[in-house]
Amino acid sequence: MANKSILVTGGAGYIGSHTVLQLLLGGFKTVIVDNLNNSSEIAVKRVKELAGDFGKNLVFHKIDLLDKPALNDLFSSTRFDAVIHFAGLKAVGESVHKPLLYYSNNIIGTVNLLEIMAKHGCKKLVFSSSATVYGWPKEVPCTEEFPLSATNPYGRTKLFIEEICRDIYCSDNEWKIILLRYFNPVGAHPSGYIGEDPRGIPNNLMPFVQQVAVGRRPALTVFGNDYSTKDGTGVRDYLHVVDLADGHIAALNKLSDLNIGCEVYNIGTGKGTSVLEMVSAFEKASGKKIPLIMAGRRAGDAEVIFASTDKAKRELKWSAKYGIDEMCRDQWNWASKNPHGYESSDSN
Ligand code: NAD
Ligand code: WQD
Repeated sequence: MANKSILVTGGAGYIGSHTVLQLLLGGFKTVIVDNLNNSSEIAVKRVKELAGDFGKNLVFHKIDLLDKPALNDLFSSTRFDAVIHFAGLKAVGESVHKPLLYYSNNIIGTVNLLEIMAKHGCKKLVFSSSATVYGWPKEVPCTEEFPLSATNPYGRTKLFIEEICRDIYCSDNEWKIILLRYFNPVGAHPSGYIGEDPRGIPNNLMPFVQQVAVGRRPALTVFGNDYSTKDGTGVRDYLHVVDLADGHIAALNKLSDLNIGCEVYNIGTGKGTSVLEMVSAFEKASGKKIPLIMAGRRAGDAEVIFASTDKAKRELKWSAKYGIDEMCRDQWNWASKNPHGYESSDSN
C-alpha cells in the first residue's frame, strides 16, 4: 500500500495525529479531514515537521463529516485508496447527557462517509472501534468472539457502526473493512512534540494524571479501591499510542489481502495494569508525586478488562512493542514540554 493515498478522518486528534505520522514515514500520501472540534491544527503542523521530507505528502482540510457536499467535493477532486476513520466524539459521560449529539455526529458522520466512499468507488476502510463494545466482560482476556454490549450511548455508536460495516459488506462484497477494537491508548510520540490534549476536564486516567503532574489539578481521584483486583483498583489494558498507530499500518497492509471481508481485531497488549500500578509507573518516570483521593466506583466502570491479542498477532502480524514504563516516560516527556497542550506552545 506504500505510495497509496489514504484519507484519515479525525487525523488532527490524539490517535489520528500519531497514525498520520507513521503513514507519512511509511511513504503514504495522506489527507486529513477534521473539524477540529477536539483538536488543534498545530498538531497537524507538528506532524508535518516530524515527518521531515515526507511532510510534503500531507494535506489538511477542515471539514465536518456532517457536511456531505464538502466530503463529496473532496472525493471528486482526490482519489483515495483507503480511509482510516477516527473522527468521532468519545467522552462516555457526555454521551449519557447528550445522546443525540453522539448518534448524530458519530453515526450520521459515518453513514455520510460510507455513502460518499461507495459513490466514488473507494471501498477499503479501517474503523476505530473500541473495547467498550465488550461492556462488562464476564471473563478476561476478551477475544473478538465475546458477546457485545454497550453500557452508554458512546459505546452504542461503536456497536452500531460495527453492524453498519458488516451490513454494507454483506450488501456489496467489494468492500474490505477492518474494525480495530482499541483498548486504552496512552503515552505520546517519543519526541514529545505531539500527544493528547483533551479539551476541558480529562475523562481518562492518564491525561488526568499528567495534568496533576504539571500542577494544573491538585490530585487524582481514584474511582474505587474495593474491586476484586490485586490492589482493589480497576485493571485495564494500556497501550502505547505509537504501537496503536503502527496497528493501523498493519491493518492497511491487511486490506490488500483477497477476500478480507469485514474483520475485527483487538488492539491491546494483553496485559492488565491497575490504576495504582499506572500511577506508580508515572511517578517513577516523572519524579513527581501524584496526590490521590480515594473515592467510590465510577458508574458504568468494568472491574477488569484486557485483550486477547492472538488474532492481531496471527493475522495482522502486529503486536505491541512498548510497556507501561515507556508509555509513562513518553506521556511525561510530552506533558513536561507542553504543560498546557498545543495552545500554549511558543512554536505554534
Ligand atoms: P480525538 O478526539 O483526539 O480525535 C477525534 C478527532 O475527530 C478530533 O480531532 C475531532 O476534532 C474529530 N472529529 C470529531 N467529530 C468530527 C466530525 N463530525 N467531522 C470531522 N472531524 C470530527 O480522539 P482519539 O482519542 O484520537 O480517538 C480517535 C477515535 O478512536 C475515536 O473514534 C474514538 O472513539 C476511538 N477510540 C478512542 C479511544 C481512546 O481511549 N482515546 C479508545 C477506543 C476508541
Ligand atoms: C481507566 C481506569 C477508572 C480516571 C474509557 C472509555 C472506553 C475507551 C477508553 C474510547 C478505570 C480509573 C480514571 C480518573 C480513575 N475510550 N480512573 N480516575 O474507563 O477503561 O475506558 O477510555 O473508546 O470506551 O470508557 O478508561 O482512562 O477513563 O479509566 O481512577 O480520574 O482509571 O475508574 O479503572 P476506561 P479511563
